[in-house]
Amino acid sequence: MELIDTHCHLTFEPLDAEVDAVLERSRAAGVTSWITVGTNLQDSIKAAEFAGRFGNLYTAVGVHPHDAKDVTADTLAELRRLAEDVKVVAIGETGLDFHYNFSKQPDQLRVFAAQLKLARELNLPVVIHSRNAFDETMEVLEQHGSGLRGVVFHCFSGSPEQTQRVLERGYYISFTGVVTFKNAERARQAAKLIPLERLMIETDCPYMSPEPMRKQKVNEPALMIHTAKFLAELKGMDLAEFAAAVTATSKVFFGLPSPANDPL
Ligand code: NI
Repeated sequence: MELIDTHCHLTFEPLDAEVDAVLERSRAAGVTSWITVGTNLQDSIKAAEFAGRFGNLYTAVGVHPHDAKDVTADTLAELRRLAEDVKVVAIGETGLDFHYNFSKQPDQLRVFAAQLKLARELNLPVVIHSRNAFDETMEVLEQHGSGLRGVVFHCFSGSPEQTQRVLERGYYISFTGVVTFKNAERARQAAKLIPLERLMIETDCPYMSPEPMRKQKVNEPALMIHTAKFLAELKGMDLAEFAAAVTATSKVFFGLPSPANDPL
């Protein structure tokens, strides 16, 4: 069996200090490839460096809306340079977070649009973080997203109506362990609606361990197996069949080699 954790933060504490062991436990659990996602320039540099050290570890580089306030033209030039590395497979995470508003909304909008432009120029897919800003996110994508190779809404918990709108645009949707939580009925409704050709899974670790491991404070890629089992059951499939389908979708979306043959 082959599974890809399409959105993790291996550069974050405490995972960064023991990446070898984290990836070893992940492989043992059947989660055999990873995309570690940058959240600002420094973190993206670190993520690309990690990706250079391990086979089947890829990276997205970008600036999270929380950090949009610090982005200058130089930052974007550095991201572009970084994105030329063969192991950089996406731009992100980028988007809008109007829940926390750690950066002012005009800064978030500016930096989101700039990263969409970068993704289009580099022909890379985009990983979207959207919180309390669904309509605004869709609007920016409408204005600046034409010609993008691919768009995924990560850690999705939209309504059925929002799910339909995302699917109609041809975008992808990715679920974290949140879909296993008792109070996440909305995410489960969404998951039922999404065809496997558009569905991916992720941990977003070190946050949000899935049930039944929710008490484990530090999430890690190995635990994604629980999310995979949960969604397979929700979809009425066996795990192997579900894993093959979401892995195929993830490989197409991120342009990963099939079969996995990264020699590092
Ligand atoms: Ni994330």
